[in-house]
Amino acid sequence: GLQMSEKKKTILVTGGAGYIGSHTCVELLGAGYDVVIVDNFVNSKPESVRRIEKIANRKVALHGVDACDPIAMAKVFDAHSIDAAIHFAALKSVGESVSKPLEYYRNNVDSLLVVLETMRARGVRHFVFSSSATVYGNPHSVPIDESFPLSATNPYGQSKLIAEQVLRDVLLAEPDWKIATLRYFNPVGAHESGLIGEDPNGIPNNLMPYVAQVAVGKLPKLRVFGGDYATPDGTGVRDFIHVVDLARGHLAALDTLFKQGRSVTVNLGTGNGYSVLDAIRAFEAASGRPIAYEIVARRPGDIGSCYANPAAAERELGWRAEFGIERMCADQWRWQSGNPDGYPADAA
Ligand code: NAD
Ligand code: WQD
Repeated sequence: GLQMSEKKKTILVTGGAGYIGSHTCVELLGAGYDVVIVDNFVNSKPESVRRIEKIANRKVALHGVDACDPIAMAKVFDAHSIDAAIHFAALKSVGESVSKPLEYYRNNVDSLLVVLETMRARGVRHFVFSSSATVYGNPHSVPIDESFPLSATNPYGQSKLIAEQVLRDVLLAEPDWKIATLRYFNPVGAHESGLIGEDPNGIPNNLMPYVAQVAVGKLPKLRVFGGDYATPDGTGVRDFIHVVDLARGHLAALDTLFKQGRSVTVNLGTGNGYSVLDAIRAFEAASGRPIAYEIVARRPGDIGSCYANPAAAERELGWRAEFGIERMCADQWRWQSGNPDGYPADAA
């Protein structure tokens, strides 16, 4: 536990009401950090914050503002003594980014710049950034090392590449910053309480939420995009990582920044590749429900295989993923079956 003399650190979590942010807030609160959430609820609901508080049995400070708004962000920093920021806030739909590039660049780049500028003005120098395996584009081989070439095939991915470039340039110019750039693979699952989880708007784009909605009877069948990849069963292979493992990676990153004063760029994945058909079978076993599916054409922009070499995260952060695909599916199912329509909207 914390010593009386040890002041609890306060972490600003932008996008803290969202999928990965909410799970990270639970872990932060459990570890004794104070948490300040900034979220404009463009892709989440305030109910997730109430559930974070319920799980942790602690309060968080919530500011329902846009991280791109410098005046609002200055007020957030005025209201709290912030020690570090974890910046989750972003728009994240690959397909939507192709049709709305200006919205994606504006939101994802501006929010980063405003958070960094506000931090700099207040002397806050510890920063954790949500990057993505998408920065590897179509990798020449797997597993993927941090040293692989970076590229983007859509505005979402390009916004992450731009963000990483901004962070590298800031570190070169102002070495007193301590920055962790975390490249997530495919987060799935939910908190074991079943109280928080991923709550996509409309029909899910991503595999696991789609599978979960087929299992619960909300969608009739999964379309498996491509059965002719150069993978063991022909379907796409991904590095699914339990969202609680991913959340804990952020605490490990904060520790590295605070205690070792080192900046890092690392993959957060398990190192294990599972195919779409493997994921379907694991979900059927966890839920006891059949998943109807048909194999259809490839989805444009998809790649065959994508999984991490997670060794750098273990070396640099002392972190590794603990949960396997069975647990990911069991927790995803508990969330989906307990909350078939996601979080309730706020009574106005
Ligand atoms: P999410 O949409 O559930 O969470 C993002 C949160 O940010 C939402 O609550 C949204 O309302 C909020 N937000 C967006 N723009 C904002 C703004 N301008 N001001 C304030 N709040 C804002 O997404 P997630 O899956 O939790 O992703 C979190 C981060 O991780 C994102 O940066 C995303 O790009 C990145 N990431 C996600 C995945 C994934 O597969 N989920 C993979 C790699 C990287
Ligand atoms: C996984 C596999 C699909 C849906 C995306 C982003 C990436 C990152 C994580 C943010 C693929 C197949 C999917 C379906 C299917 N996000 N699939 N039927 O594409 O690996 O990564 O989310 O940074 O940038 O691109 O994840 O869950 O969409 O797909 O067959 O209805 O499932 O083809 O092989 P992806 P995904």
